[in-house]
Amino acid sequence: DKMIAVVPAAGVGSRMAADRPKQYLHIAGKTILEHTIDRLLQHPMIDRVVVAIGEQDPYFPTLPLAENPRVTRVDGGAERADSVFSGLAAIDDPDAWVLVHDAARPCLRQQDLQKLIDEALASECGAILAAPVRDTMKRGNGRQAIAVTVERSDLWHALTPQMFRAGQLKQALEKALADGAVVTDEASALEHCGMSPKLVTGRADNLKVTQPEDLAIAEFYLQHLLK
Ligand code: C5P
Repeated sequence: DKMIAVVPAAGVGSRMAADRPKQYLHIAGKTILEHTIDRLLQHPMIDRVVVAIGEQDPYFPTLPLAENPRVTRVDGGAERADSVFSGLAAIDDPDAWVLVHDAARPCLRQQDLQKLIDEALASECGAILAAPVRDTMKRGNGRQAIAVTVERSDLWHALTPQMFRAGQLKQALEKALADGAVVTDEASALEHCGMSPKLVTGRADNLKVTQPEDLAIAEFYLQHLLK
């Protein structure tokens, strides 16, 4: 079974407040995007990476990645789901397995990636990496006060990669977007269509670099834990 990674990398990263989108910031010797894509290509079962890049993005063409025959660039869209959809359009075989992975998660471990692949291949409709929540969870009332404490015993952080069959994911995204469902990850599109992807416990250090203080933490993980 050949596997293809789809990497949405067309966000502007406004919460980072940097001079360029966060995936182009350098940590531990190269850009976040290069760490992320190298990590995926290191896996022996992943053939190629389709990466969704903003149409006017001036940074991607300057990276050696742009010349890598195993990397295909497509145009990203307005929302993350649009960027993923655009990536799926570059995959002909509906039965191919795709792993959708955020450009902003450079600290993925091969061990987690392997665990996800094993579980997804044995599943009905796919699987995602996820981490159990650690803190007590509150729902707010919209006025910065607590409405209710949410039972945390089976509450998870949805991480990436998220692994599905290309055709099934494409159909689910199409329907979810047409129905106006909230689609902030791929699994939510399948859930919208009545499916229950598996939760595979992954490490919480697979963080999504979002705010300035995340850069030092990600660099620490890359330098000290991934060797
Ligand atoms: O903004 P956030 O951190 O949730 O974005 C998650 C991933 O989705 C990032 O890798 C970002 O580049 C990507 N994205 C995208 N197209 C968009 C918005 C976000 O590819 N329109």
